Amino acid sequence: MKFSEVEEKTKGLRWLSAAQGKILYDLVYENDIENVLELGFFHGVSAMYMAAALQEKGKAGMITTLDKTNAKELKPNIDDLSAELGLSSFIKPLYAHDCYTWELLRLLDLNPRPSFDLVFIDGAHLWKTDGFAFFLCDKLLAENGYLIMDDIGWSMAKNADPKSKEWTKKYSDEEQSTNQLQKVFDLLVKEHPSYGDFRVEDGWAFARKTGAGTPNTIKESVKVKTVLVTREMLKMTLNNQ
Ligand SMILES: C[S@@+](CC[C@H](N)C(=O)[O-])C[C@H]1O[C@@H](n2cnc3c(N)ncnc32)[C@H](O)[C@@H]1O
Repeated sequence: MKFSEVEEKTKGLRWLSAAQGKILYDLVYENDIENVLELGFFHGVSAMYMAAALQEKGKAGMITTLDKTNAKELKPNIDDLSAELGLSSFIKPLYAHDCYTWELLRLLDLNPRPSFDLVFIDGAHLWKTDGFAFFLCDKLLAENGYLIMDDIGWSMAKNADPKSKEWTKKYSDEEQSTNQLQKVFDLLVKEHPSYGDFRVEDGWAFARKTGAGTPNTIKESVKVKTVLVTREMLKMTLNNQ
């Protein structure tokens, strides 16, 4: 499906602008991306742009996308929208009772474990949720995979919506005024040894999983230690005989 058709059919639906839809569509269309993991779908607009690009390039692939159960109540919901656009076979919505970090646990627990070429984080926008979610997603992101985070300039304090103001009251002034996703990007993504190609544009943060990084290094050092300890124990046993 062409970009302009998705634009036409999703007109007026929150939250993604057509310009942002174009970024996702082109990224999926122009690169070796087949499997996408998205955190936060709402009506499913961003998922439609990515699914349409998959369909247009004639590749198999799937947008696995996570939100809360109450996203089913939206009109249209993601199933209505994907049926209307004829993209249902490219979209797998997963529903979290409380938070997508639990659904990420379930994905990590699958055997074989799924692997994604692109992770798009556009959900809670909170340090406590998306900081943790980043590390979980990292385990599911393939080497050379792409990471995008939406709204990194967002803070609770900047949000003028009175309904949102209500739920933000429980947070401290500092928590409310901090761009929490920016902190996730600066302190967790950019400092992670597996990531590079950092870029921030129009409130979106981009990174690429360019290297193997710490997890393997840790595994290797544990392996070396285990071999050394086993050898020491063997020596002691032989000396005692
Ligand atoms: C900005 S909207 C997503 C918009 C969508 N990506 C698009 O561009 O069309 C954010 C979504 O994240 C979901 N969300 C926020 N926190 C969440 C959490 N902890 N677990 C699951 N979903 C969450 C909300 O329900 C909401 O639908």
